[in-house]
Amino acid sequence: MPQNATVLPATVRKIPRHVAVIMDGNGRWARERGLNRVDGHRRGVESVREIVRTAGECGVEYLTLYAFSVENWNRPKNEVKVLMRLLEQFLRDEVPELMKNNVRLHAIGRLTDLPGSVQEQLHKSIEALRNNTGLNLILALSYSGRVEITEAVRSILREISLGHLDPAQVDEKVISQNLYTRYYPDPDLLIRTSGEMRLSNFLLWQMAYTEIHITPVLWPDFRKPQFLAALEDYSKRNRRFGKI
Ligand code: IPE
Ligand code: IPE
Ligand code: MG
Repeated sequence: MPQNATVLPATVRKIPRHVAVIMDGNGRWARERGLNRVDGHRRGVESVREIVRTAGECGVEYLTLYAFSVENWNRPKNEVKVLMRLLEQFLRDEVPELMKNNVRLHAIGRLTDLPGSVQEQLHKSIEALRNNTGLNLILALSYSGRVEITEAVRSILREISLGHLDPAQVDEKVISQNLYTRYYPDPDLLIRTSGEMRLSNFLLWQMAYTEIHITPVLWPDFRKPQFLAALEDYSKRNRRFGKI
């Protein structure tokens, strides 16, 4: 239940333990205003700040943000450069605020693809926040669900070839334990902004039974009221997991 003073609307009766977000629509937000795509990304960082704070206040335990996909490396060089710079700045400048809010930081994805200075800052910030006990903020960086599953298969095969594991022992638990997300529960709620109705290679294994909330709101406009509306929508869902 809520950790501090946020008064939740009465219609929010269930808090998802893990919320995953596909933060989409920065480019369209900028285009609608005659701005550059990178201005949209800049404004999107403000939404990240507000959603991290709000999720923590609501008592969400895990918040996974899809910040950069493996496929996003195929964008124009300059856009990638700006995104990496914004990421590095966020990681550096947000530490005091995250500390104040008791947020612990994690990252998933092919982190070694990131520029060296981003990797360094990422590890520094994770280290600085490691003893916090509130919201777990998980950044998906150079992330691809298929790459994650492929890497898991490879590491399981390695264990088998070394004789540490029998093929008959490979079950869902073994696979889950070989994913980047082995320490976290599966998402209860996925939010995707900008109205797109696809997963875009995000947490493919983990979202087998995740509830999906899609809003037309573009990410830079997605703030506390929109997050509370998503929680309200989730509260109305009847999760059956195949049962009746
Ligand atoms: C999401 O916004 C940010 C990233 C994928 C990094 P987009 O940049 O995808 O914005 P649109 O979809 O082009 O509007
Ligand atoms: C998904 O958004 C990736 C992130 C939000 C980081 P994209 O904008 O890359 O997805 P597609 O290309 O529209 O599927
Ligand atoms: Mg997009």
